[in-house]
Amino acid sequence: MPDYDEFDFETRAVRAGQRRTGEGEHSEAIFPTSSYVFKSAAEAAARFSGDQPGNIYSRFTNPTVRTFEERLASLEGGECCVATSSVMAAILATCAGLLQGGDHIVSSQSIFGTTTVLFSTWLTRFGIETSFVPLADTAAWESAIRPETRMLFLETPSNPLTEIADIQALSALARNRNCLLVVDNCFCTPALQQPLSLGADIVVHSATKYLDGQGRCVGGAVVGDAELVGKEIYGFLRTAGPTMSPFNAWVFLKGLETLSLRMQAHCSSALTLARWLEQQASVARVYHPGLASHPQHELAGRQQRGYGGIVSFELDGGQQDGWTFIDALRVFSITANLGDTKSTVTHPATTTHGRLSPEQRTAAGISDGLIRLAVGLESVTDLQADLERGFASLPD
Ligand SMILES: Cc1ncc(COP(=O)(O)O)c(C=O)c1O
Repeated sequence: MPDYDEFDFETRAVRAGQRRTGEGEHSEAIFPTSSYVFKSAAEAAARFSGDQPGNIYSRFTNPTVRTFEERLASLEGGECCVATSSVMAAILATCAGLLQGGDHIVSSQSIFGTTTVLFSTWLTRFGIETSFVPLADTAAWESAIRPETRMLFLETPSNPLTEIADIQALSALARNRNCLLVVDNCFCTPALQQPLSLGADIVVHSATKYLDGQGRCVGGAVVGDAELVGKEIYGFLRTAGPTMSPFNAWVFLKGLETLSLRMQAHCSSALTLARWLEQQASVARVYHPGLASHPQHELAGRQQRGYGGIVSFELDGGQQDGWTFIDALRVFSITANLGDTKSTVTHPATTTHGRLSPEQRTAAGISDGLIRLAVGLESVTDLQADLERGFASLPD
């Protein structure tokens, strides 16, 4: 198969990693097999010992999953990618593969709620502690680093407040202090931002979101250099088993083919709605990096090739108004997923961030009146009319 490295992003999104069986199929084949047959006992032994490359068992490798991994590695500009059953599995595998008891993580406090729970609850059982700092405060990152700190972890734009981290500044800090910088690139995808090219060591992905793009499958991935990802993190995955199924990998491959076009459309509609929301009387504040009012608007413009599809806003009336508004919508789906063709609406304080303590929520800036929109691909006129329905339902 040709090597697609020389081609543009959109071409690689459609073709990188492509492999064909002898049948000459045009669309990628799905390999729903748990194991692979060897020609002889000697070949089986050679595969197991590693003397002969090739498939053994689908917890280790699978051709459909490999195609997805090669395509995503190409789009992120990484040497190696390993696919996982979700991004939570990808983050766990990254920590299990690269850290040990006694190590310390510095993490942004503005991360997906379940990632906070993973760091602050489960990893502490294994002697790995995490300190949480404000995402955009580079000085706070620096002062939180201890001699035993091994990893800096962030999402940019953050979920749900769309704060932006300066990846280049934090990667320089990580390098100086001998830490690895891990970036969850779920909100931007490689179509809008490539953290490895800005100095990050590892990118993790929820393929569940924009990479799939149609809300069908749960999956994740880790991208980075061959030593860290291909050996250490892969070693954990192969042993512990939270790997991606071939069917899901095939769905994600189809998603990647349209990623660039979809991201442009998500960005355009989200910016239109964000600007309109800023004009609404019951809205206290709108969060979207494309707005001139966003504190890191200029940094987002430099670091990203588009501002993303997420818009959050605060209603004056707290949780009661938030729920009333959401219940009045007819087009936006009430669901916690994002990155779908279908627009979604979420009340973070009682869903995605509901397991955080009130203090953790306050620290992360999640107020009771906050609403997160993941703007999909429906007509933006219909989406705006739907939001008008929400505003009309609020008490005067
Ligand atoms: C930024 C971010 N990271 C991680 C996740 C978790 O994704 P998954 O279900 O694929 O583990 C989400 C889900 O909403 C997310 O928004």
